[in-house]
Amino acid sequence: MIKINRNYLKLQGSYLFAEVARHVKEFQELNQDKRIIRLGIGDVTEPLSQNVIKGLNEGVAHMGKRETFQGYPPYEGFAFLREKIAEIDFKSKGINICADEIYVSTGAKEDTANFQELFDTSVKIAITDPVYPVYLDSNVMAGRTASFKNGRFDGVHYLNCNEENNFTPDLPTEKVDLIYLCFPNNPTGQVATKEYLKKWVDYAKANKALILFDAAYEAFVREKDIPKSIFEIEGAKEVAVEFRSLSKTAGFTGTRCAYTIIPKDLKIYDDDGKEHSLGSLWLRRQATKFNGVSYIIQKGAEQVFTKEGQEEVKKTIDYYLDNAKIITEGLTKLGIKYSGGKNSPYIWLKTPKKLSSWEFFHKLLNDCYVVGTPGVGFGSCGEGYFRLTAFGKKDDVIEAIDRLGKLKI
Ligand code: MLT
Repeated sequence: MIKINRNYLKLQGSYLFAEVARHVKEFQELNQDKRIIRLGIGDVTEPLSQNVIKGLNEGVAHMGKRETFQGYPPYEGFAFLREKIAEIDFKSKGINICADEIYVSTGAKEDTANFQELFDTSVKIAITDPVYPVYLDSNVMAGRTASFKNGRFDGVHYLNCNEENNFTPDLPTEKVDLIYLCFPNNPTGQVATKEYLKKWVDYAKANKALILFDAAYEAFVREKDIPKSIFEIEGAKEVAVEFRSLSKTAGFTGTRCAYTIIPKDLKIYDDDGKEHSLGSLWLRRQATKFNGVSYIIQKGAEQVFTKEGQEEVKKTIDYYLDNAKIITEGLTKLGIKYSGGKNSPYIWLKTPKKLSSWEFFHKLLNDCYVVGTPGVGFGSCGEGYFRLTAFGKKDDVIEAIDRLGKLKI
């Protein structure tokens, strides 16, 4: 008899976005004449930029000639891409990150899910509630959590995010080892100040903890004083790993390219207290389980880090930020409370008339044909909240807000 990995039995329901998709499919099948507007999963709608397409085409041409053909890509990514990332994302902004601290991959989702494999199952994790479900579910699968009671897993330290703390959680009240933070936050859209992140870096240093910092939405930060990278904080290179992605920045959700930054000096320890390099361990994992990002995709990604590519990124993000503004202005007019939508593509709204997250989801789908994501799907503190994304076509966003205004509750 083939026995199941019993940790998988602890998972709650299906993956959030798969569950939302199932409800939407069912609704569409029964209501084929209704035009659904999707502001649920944060999937981009603007096409790849001209420079990225040029890079991809170059990659294709190289693959068709013996002299320039490429076989397996390096596990950590091609030097041409890693060097450009180091220069544009970090060095040009005064942050000392080198190309050999950058590990290219197919997605921040994959990397944030896989990274926990490097640590003992006994390490105590701290995650925010609400949270991007991947951080929690990957730890559940790995056996790092105990049973599920009253909406939470035993063995996990939850960091509550609510109106009282302005969706920026307080430091843990017990000693934790691995801390997942995401700013600009998915799902609340909240951003962190430098002073706030410094508290976390100091905590990690004092407690020999590691921060896994998801910066997938950094390109949306437009306010000067809001950090885009944890490495803008003094001392962070000693205690943090950062995940970045081209998905939301440059429209790569379908194309797949991301990168993780592991500072050279980051160490982890075995039972005898012997030091091991975290970067080397990650590369060991990747070389075993992953065969790299294709040359063609990395040639496309390279173009994101040119002057023209950066201008194109800015233009596309401006477009989504305009959508976010349309949504937040609409919500303000309707008297609905929200956070985010500024320096972020996500808008986290309080459901009207105290509807539960799923009640509001169904109401919005059935009466307005608009899809969003129920807040409770991100954790129990998300009950009574609902997430809208600014990724969408402007006309659809305008129409979605118009339909919301006509909703009778
Ligand atoms: C989201 O909607 O939260 C994201 O699109 C999911 C992801 O990036 O995997």
